[in-house]
Amino acid sequence: MFRTIAREYPDTLARVVELAPDESPAQLAAALVGELLAGKDAPVVLRSAGSRRGLELVEADLGPLAGRGAGPAGDGAAEAEAMGLDHDSVVLLVGGARGITARFAATLAAASRCRIELVGRTPAPGGPEDEATRKATDRTALRAALAAQGGRSAAEIEQAVARILAHREITETVERLRGLGSAVRYHSADMRDTEAVRRLVTGIHAEHGRLDGVVHAAGVIEDRVLADKDLDSFRRVFGTKVEGARTLLTTLEGLPGGPRFTVLFGSIAAVLGNRGQVDYAAANDALQHLGSRWAARTGNRSLTVHWGPWAPTGEHGGMVTPELAREYARHGVKLIDPEEGTLCLLRELAYGEPSADAVVYTASGW
Ligand SMILES: NC(=O)c1ccc[n+]([C@@H]2O[C@H](COP(=O)([O-])OP(=O)(O)OC[C@H]3O[C@@H](n4cnc5c(N)ncnc54)[C@H](OP(=O)(O)O)[C@@H]3O)[C@@H](O)[C@H]2O)c1
Repeated sequence: MFRTIAREYPDTLARVVELAPDESPAQLAAALVGELLAGKDAPVVLRSAGSRRGLELVEADLGPLAGRGAGPAGDGAAEAEAMGLDHDSVVLLVGGARGITARFAATLAAASRCRIELVGRTPAPGGPEDEATRKATDRTALRAALAAQGGRSAAEIEQAVARILAHREITETVERLRGLGSAVRYHSADMRDTEAVRRLVTGIHAEHGRLDGVVHAAGVIEDRVLADKDLDSFRRVFGTKVEGARTLLTTLEGLPGGPRFTVLFGSIAAVLGNRGQVDYAAANDALQHLGSRWAARTGNRSLTVHWGPWAPTGEHGGMVTPELAREYARHGVKLIDPEEGTLCLLRELAYGEPSADAVVYTASGW
């Protein structure tokens, strides 16, 4: 949160100072005065026993195996094997029917043919699409097709367009994963609904008798500078990630046999802060901490991947719209190629240091 505040208020010193609990009031006061005088070098600082530390990104490679690419055929099969995934394994991907996570689900399916359980808020598509809209292939054509039917307000047309596009995306994902050899199901649940998530995860585990991997990638953005943020908006953005992760992780803790891996989709905004994304940045940072504590408690692996922006492609554009992509290009920010991004995550899970609680993947600097 403070990394973003520091960006939004460049003339103000905004800093989180973590102090050691065992220091005397005089030492704490001196440390804080020191911080007020220290200039704007870092928005988060840890101070203890006279030392002062900031956080720094350090480049690390994955070792010689990973250097050879994602498996002999570059299809991720070697990585899936290293992760212990095969066609009997069960992987739950929250947010996996759409966007960049659908791309990762396809990589998992191609690499292991594991069983895949997808979750999103959108109600499951109820059958083939209505004849009247089927030929309308983009947003504009859909709007026109729905307007021609009459009886809907402009807002209702927008809602209907969003629902149809979401259904198409979910259907496309499910068909693609099946085509790659995975057994797939889609479930509709809101990650902010604690009871629904508990029931769903417990049910999936009971049915298969196992849950080998869990990916929490549900997220929403409602970008606005802090001065224009309202509390409900903050709660939606923060809660989707953080309440969702908390429910998911505590539910997993109560089940026998922890998953081989748990991945939380975070963002570079958490690491560096980003103007307009105070809620989103704070949420992604909190994800890492939740995952890290859960891993320490349970001995299971939790990895938060703080992604830089992905290039939008085809059906699974994700949060980076074509307009935003052009904006990034103007600022010289390169976008993650979806094919490469998904294989990077697979390699990270296969060969990365299991105790690492977070990694940053970007196509270029921020
Ligand atoms: N795209 C990028 O460049 C990028 C960069 C950094 C990090 N990320 C992270 O990657 C993840 C996926 O992003 P994306 O770009 O693929 O975005 P996206 O296309 O908007 O996908 C978000 C997914 O989350 C689901 N979702 C949202 N709220 C939910 C809720 N309350 N309960 C259950 N599911 C919910 C959505 O499904 P429904 O709409 O059906 O609910 C959708 O499947 C996010 O966590 C995002 O923060 C993305």
